[in-house]
Amino acid sequence: MMRKLIVVVSVSAAAAVAFQVVFRTAGSSPPIPDQELGLRKTALADDRAPATYTLTDAAPGDNQRMPRAYDGAPPLIPHSLDGFTPITSSENTCLLCHQTGTADAADPPQVPVSHMTDLRNAPTVQRETVAGARWNCTACHVPQSNAPLLVANTFATKGK
Ligand code: HEC
Ligand code: HEC
Repeated sequence: MMRKLIVVVSVSAAAAVAFQVVFRTAGSSPPIPDQELGLRKTALADDRAPATYTLTDAAPGDNQRMPRAYDGAPPLIPHSLDGFTPITSSENTCLLCHQTGTADAADPPQVPVSHMTDLRNAPTVQRETVAGARWNCTACHVPQSNAPLLVANTFATKGK
């Protein structure tokens, strides 16, 4: 009985020492200063409200299309979305202009063939209308804005 007790006591003592070693080692790396925790580059306590920005209020036809960020990137929407959202399961105002069924160059740019294809289940079939995964246009396309960059960026676009 006594022997068992000694074993238990010494095993717990060893565990406590091991725990301290691990704990102290982990605690010995210096803490990360809060200036380095995120994109804001300022102490959390001094945080200021982010710069405000506005989305474009241009009507369709009144603004410039921006170059793509890279080949294959979803283009930014150059016009305001006032009155065109929300997109619901039964209503999609975007398609009234972007899928007119004519190939008139004066029309708004038409949804590309990629949007009429269910790339996951039937990648070789071109459908009559947009595939379900493309229905919610604003999941990928966002309006142009005057938001300042959060961090300086030297990326140069090669997109058209
Ligand atoms: C009343 C017609 C109209 C409606 C509705 C409309 N658009 Fe447009 N859209 C245009 C026109 C016209 C352009 C061409 C650029 C310009 O002249 O403003 C355009 C351009 C775009 C472009 C840029 C394409 C490129 O290659 O640069 C995207 C993306 C776009 N619209 C997405 C949308 C989405 C998403 C919606 C719905 C939330 C929508 N549009 C609703 C007329 C419309
Ligand atoms: C899953 C992401 C995604 C969704 C959802 C989506 N798009 Fe796109 N869209 C893209 C990408 C990526 C491109 C550029 C590559 C391409 O042409 O396929 C693009 C290109 C376009 C273009 C440019 C065509 C051109 O010839 O310049 C238009 C217009 C457009 N989309 C409209 C729409 C509309 C309207 C919807 C909703 C019905 C929509 N998109 C939904 C990703 C998406």
